[in-house]
Amino acid sequence: MSGSRAAVRTEGLRKVYGSGGTEVTALREVNLVIESARLTAIMGPSGSGKSTLMHLLAGLDRPSSGAVWYDDVDITGLDDRRLTALRRTEIGFVFQAFNLVPTLTVLENVLLPFDLGGVTPDRARLDWIHERIAELGLTTMLERRPHQLSGGQQQRVAIARALAIRPRLIFADEPTGNLDSRTGRGVLEMLESATRVHDQAVVLVTHDPVAAAHADRVLFISDGAIVHDVERTDASTLSEMVLDLAVDR
Ligand SMILES: Nc1ncnc2c1ncn2[C@@H]1O[C@H](COP(=O)(O)OP(=O)(O)OP(=O)(O)O)[C@@H](O)[C@H]1O
Ligand SMILES: [Mg+2]
Repeated sequence: MSGSRAAVRTEGLRKVYGSGGTEVTALREVNLVIESARLTAIMGPSGSGKSTLMHLLAGLDRPSSGAVWYDDVDITGLDDRRLTALRRTEIGFVFQAFNLVPTLTVLENVLLPFDLGGVTPDRARLDWIHERIAELGLTTMLERRPHQLSGGQQQRVAIARALAIRPRLIFADEPTGNLDSRTGRGVLEMLESATRVHDQAVVLVTHDPVAAAHADRVLFISDGAIVHDVERTDASTLSEMVLDLAVDR
């Protein structure tokens, strides 16, 4: 079954920031498999290590020890050039700071991953991308530049760009944070459908139990360790788990 295929997997992943008296252990020996074709949410209190874990999974930062496996390649051993190549082909990002290029139009921003990779999308891919753009309500804005869009519209451009290369993995850090609830639900449904239709793994960091209720699996991080790992459940169960964690601390 494709659902059990590992998109990425970690072994003894540890991250310590700083040194001497100012050391912060952000992650402690995390062993984790993120599966393809599933939406995995990561929840946990502020400062618990969610962004750190996501950055290490995406090869944006290096662990203090441990491994991050893409198939049989431990990416912690790759040099910067090969890491950049991996991110361009295998990973889509939807981050809170959207990283849109201000001088490019919406369409140019969406197609940027192809330009950077020196690849020309074929007709079928372009059609597919325009369908996603339409679903995101961006069709009439293709010639605008990011400063001519609202925050929520910029966020949707970042989502279209992350989907465009159909990466193995999509990382989204609070992707619905700037959106009204209806648009936010649309974005979550699009991320869900990426997992169903294209076998992609989506990793969603969120504080919002309603958003996490769209996930197939929810991981809770506290103080740098995974403390709960549950299958899809409803928002009220998830918010109770969030509250319990806050009390435990
Ligand atoms: N570059 C850094 N240098 C030093 N400490 C850092 C750095 N980045 C993160 N930390 C620390 O590591 C811990 C985990 O941070 P991280 O950003 O992963 O938390 P988070 O779960 O994403 O929190 P939030 O919900 O607030 O985004 C925190 O104690 C944080 O202060
Ligand atoms: Mg964070």
